Amino acid sequence: MNASRPPPPDRASPRCQVAGTGAWLPERILTNADLEKLVETSDEWIVSRTGIRERRIADEGVHTSTMGAKAATRALERAGIPAREVDAILCATITPDMPFPCTACLIQREIGADRAFCFDLEAACTGFIYGLEIGRRLIESNAYKTILVVASEKLSSVTDWKDRNTCVLFGDGAGAVVVGPTTEEEAAAGRGILSTHLFTDGSLANALLIPGGGSKEPFSADVLEKRRHLVHMTGQDVFKAAVRYLAASARAALDANHVTPAELDWVVAHQANMRILQALSQRVEIPMERFVVNIHKYGNTSSASIPIVLDEALGEGKIKPGQTVLMCALGAGISWGSALIRW
Ligand code: UT7
Repeated sequence: MNASRPPPPDRASPRCQVAGTGAWLPERILTNADLEKLVETSDEWIVSRTGIRERRIADEGVHTSTMGAKAATRALERAGIPAREVDAILCATITPDMPFPCTACLIQREIGADRAFCFDLEAACTGFIYGLEIGRRLIESNAYKTILVVASEKLSSVTDWKDRNTCVLFGDGAGAVVVGPTTEEEAAAGRGILSTHLFTDGSLANALLIPGGGSKEPFSADVLEKRRHLVHMTGQDVFKAAVRYLAASARAALDANHVTPAELDWVVAHQANMRILQALSQRVEIPMERFVVNIHKYGNTSSASIPIVLDEALGEGKIKPGQTVLMCALGAGISWGSALIRW
């Protein structure tokens, strides 16, 4: 492990750091055995093809904003920053409480961050990395001091519980980080958000989507009957893209910072499929022991998965100050990206 490594000599000191993290998961557990009663599937198939054993499901009165507000409050507590000091709330989600206003506004109301301007961003499972990039740039502009990046998903509300291809994959939950300027000590030690790389390939937009319920196919009896308001996925196309592009975005992060795979302490990647994580591990030559994994407990929580697994790794004392953490994600769009942080 590489604690307290100095910054690469040819790079400026990082100006932005994650000041606190938080997560919130609903208590209700849906196991693979429960799913066996809903669709023609088996615990053996789900575990061997995905690594998922159970996922959390939010109760009816718990919305994306409810979960996001709880994760945000925890992140602010960890950062020691009162809600009224938050300059902006960005909420990454594909399951907003409603088409508008944005879920970030509802989180603001819930946590009392009344000085903050608020907006949602929609980059599916890559949403948290996109949010981190925007948060980082807002801080680096010197115009703002505290940005709350929240990622919250109630995927159970858009899951087709009759489709075994997709219903076994998803779960509900939220994560959040507070992004702020580096302290003098952090900057001198080269600690902070070192890079973010974002990518999109719209030609693969049809591989993973909710086709109905938007302006193209407004909600109607026909949309409802054909279940077009729910998630549709061509799993193998997304799988192949994930392996290829996650590896490429990981290399982009490492190359940009002159960090070798051997120097990396942790990989905090989107938790979509254990086999994708294993393929990534092989392609970038980073052993699985350095991947933080919780897919077996929560399934795929889309944009929320990285801040949830990050918060868990920090809570367990895995990630220590001075260590280098690679994040990468891929999702609908398709969109993908990576971030490198020295903690
Ligand atoms: O988070 C955003 C990014 N999302 C992802 O990265 C997801 C990427 N895709 C995947 O993770 C995988 O493609 C899946 C887990 C979705 C599917 O795994 P797969 O190995 O690609 O399976 P498949 O779709 O090729 O299906 C293989 C077989 C099919 O049966 P036949 O046609 O060979 O007879 C499916 O009908 O497995 C069948 N199958 C199932 N069987 C039992 C599909 N789902 C199930 C199921 N239980 N739940």
